[in-house]
Amino acid sequence: MQLLPSPFDAQFYGLRIGRLVATPGDDSAALAATIATAADYDVLFVRVRADDPLHPALALRAPVIDTLIGCRLDAGPARAPAPAIPAGITIAEHPRLSDEADLAAAAAITAAGIHTSHLHADPRLPIDQTRALYGVWGRNDVAGRADHVIVARGVGGELVGFVGVIVVGGSALVDLIVVAPAWQGRGVGGALLAAFITWVDARSLVGTLSTQRDNPSLRLYQRCGFVPIDTHVTFHLWLR
Ligand SMILES: CC(C)(COP(=O)(O)OP(=O)(O)OC[C@H]1O[C@@H](n2cnc3c(N)ncnc32)[C@H](O)[C@@H]1OP(=O)(O)O)[C@@H](O)C(=O)NCCC(=O)NCCS
Repeated sequence: MQLLPSPFDAQFYGLRIGRLVATPGDDSAALAATIATAADYDVLFVRVRADDPLHPALALRAPVIDTLIGCRLDAGPARAPAPAIPAGITIAEHPRLSDEADLAAAAAITAAGIHTSHLHADPRLPIDQTRALYGVWGRNDVAGRADHVIVARGVGGELVGFVGVIVVGGSALVDLIVVAPAWQGRGVGGALLAAFITWVDARSLVGTLSTQRDNPSLRLYQRCGFVPIDTHVTFHLWLR
């Protein structure tokens, strides 16, 4: 088991945050031994598959704070037809964005739009800091962290939603998908996903994403052809 610092998270909360990364064969003794070396940390984040043998040992230390359903785009022929792009919305694709107005909009949309994550779920992590973290994440994603950015724009050219895609090997991961709160539920997310699906199909990549078990977006993903393939559980082990 590895104990790694988590500097991106730590900078927002002023906490010493570490991450435990389990390796196959780790047991409760390995968990205890690694935690014993974590005296410099305030909290450790750890995520394992729900069927990992470490799950019960972790559950003795802290409640599950987040349950993530991993999904893969089904290669079969049974996908629903792509939904129509909503009136007034234009979809465009870029390797990255550089216009400051777009970067600021991506930050604002992500900070306001994302409201479910293991960070949001932890009452010990101040919500303003969590929103700030997501704002920076959204900005970073469109500015180059992601390998491909799909955007939705309104009639004035303003950014109303985006997908940041990270390519790893033969997989294209939806790192972030978010639509501005005023536009949610009006078909923008479906249009962004349709563009994502066209992009991955053209490159013979496997589209993947994950979301919280109770996130309504799961219904949208399944309608678009994503199928659940695994479940991960997240724990926050507070040491202080
Ligand atoms: C998820 C999201 C990108 C979907 O975009 P959208 O434009 O709202 O979706 P569409 O209008 O194309 O499709 C509607 C479907 O999206 C889902 N949805 C609608 N509002 C949502 C919301 N506030 N949060 C999550 N999912 C939502 C539902 O499945 C809905 O279909 P249903 O009403 O039949 O169940 C968008 O709602 C959003 O940004 N939500 C908040 C951030 C989030 O949860 N992102 C996903 C993290 S993995």
